[in-house]
Amino acid sequence: MALQIIIGAQWGDEGKGRMVDWLASQSDYVARFNGGDNAGHTVTIGSKIYKLHLLPSGIIHPNTIAMLGNGMVINPASLLVEMEMLQTAGVTIDPQRVRISHAAHLITPAHQAMDKAMEAARGSGNLGTTGRGIGPAYTDKAARNGLRMGDLLAIDFMDRLQSHIEKANQSLSFYSAPALEIKPILEVFEAQRKILTPYIQDVSSELHQALAQGKRVLAEGAQGTLLDIDHGSYPFVTSSTTTAPGVMTGLGLGLDAAQNARVIGVAKSFQTRVGSGPFPTELSGELAVRLRGTGSNPWDEFGTTTGRARRVGWLDGVLLRYAARINGLTELVLTKLDILSGFDQIRICTAYRVGNTTLTEPPFGVSDLGCVEPVYSELPGWRADLGSLRHWEDLPEQARSYIRTVTGTSGVPVRYASVGPEREQIVDVPGLG
Ligand code: IMP
Repeated sequence: MALQIIIGAQWGDEGKGRMVDWLASQSDYVARFNGGDNAGHTVTIGSKIYKLHLLPSGIIHPNTIAMLGNGMVINPASLLVEMEMLQTAGVTIDPQRVRISHAAHLITPAHQAMDKAMEAARGSGNLGTTGRGIGPAYTDKAARNGLRMGDLLAIDFMDRLQSHIEKANQSLSFYSAPALEIKPILEVFEAQRKILTPYIQDVSSELHQALAQGKRVLAEGAQGTLLDIDHGSYPFVTSSTTTAPGVMTGLGLGLDAAQNARVIGVAKSFQTRVGSGPFPTELSGELAVRLRGTGSNPWDEFGTTTGRARRVGWLDGVLLRYAARINGLTELVLTKLDILSGFDQIRICTAYRVGNTTLTEPPFGVSDLGCVEPVYSELPGWRADLGSLRHWEDLPEQARSYIRTVTGTSGVPVRYASVGPEREQIVDVPGLG
């Protein structure tokens, strides 16, 4: 299959990084098409843990070429830190392996300062952004004021950057936030543009040619379906298209590339969310602590980018069905099944109740979830530790039944279930569920 797409089917943090890493071993190109360093993807290989924010997780495989698409917003400072971190870890990073779209937008310190100032001004109604400047960078893009990676090559770039910071300083004063000192920012950018210039290319054209030659392209989604700017729980969303159709616009591919694409949705075996917004199946108390962990393990539910404790709850099958529809998922990967070991009963939300009405689809998309009551199916839990199991037949019958219920509820076959953070801790689900 020439184009494979990996999408988060929930509110982000589904464990896409390790799935991408796994599929990247059979790919020629790995590509990010949306978002910026608000994303945090953890890849565990043996004793090494890589935390990636901008570069596609598949870059860890030496056979891949990594693409950063036009749909992204890129903070050069974060990108350079990440490149250096990988180089130190022995991963080759050079213009032969990494390309950055000329049409991706830049994130500047002004965008970050605006993000923080706007969040502070929202007070208790804040969105819980990552503070990385994502919203303001996409705002500048839509307002046609943005600076793009290709602009780094322009002779007058430093003047344009200066005028961008000056304008931002006016806006910051409106929020009573301190103005940014311009000179140090210009100096840093001057150094960064020299390093990044050789990486700036026409990503769309190269990917188009690669697909025409039968090369395998893996598109890596960041965040998740429910954080999509159009189809997520607006306004508690990010500012980009996180869903599968965003691959086409965010990499500059035509719809012909989407034909027969494999669209893999990654969903955690339970629900998590960082930041504000409605969460119908949210849990608190002891059950929540058991799902979240204490933070002592790298896989506990604390943000890769911000370190914030994630909100946790039972799996929401209504939202999973919705994700299947919006993305056109062809299959599901269910992650962190091992975390559910030890519960007497496990619940899956299969419908919502609003007053006397039962809904099997979210009302008006997913923005109106504040008023719904989850309707649960209860399934028996299991005791066994799943971490060492690799085969479907070895899973406890209750775990297999849980997987079948996820397939039945979502309408999409679960193809794999992960039972731990390591590469090989995956169970192949036979007969597509
Ligand atoms: P922003 O993308 O920083 O503007 O944040 C908007 C919302 O998306 C906030 O609720 C963030 O917590 C959430 N968010 C952004 N990126 C991620 C991610 O990679 N995983 C999970 N949540 C995210």
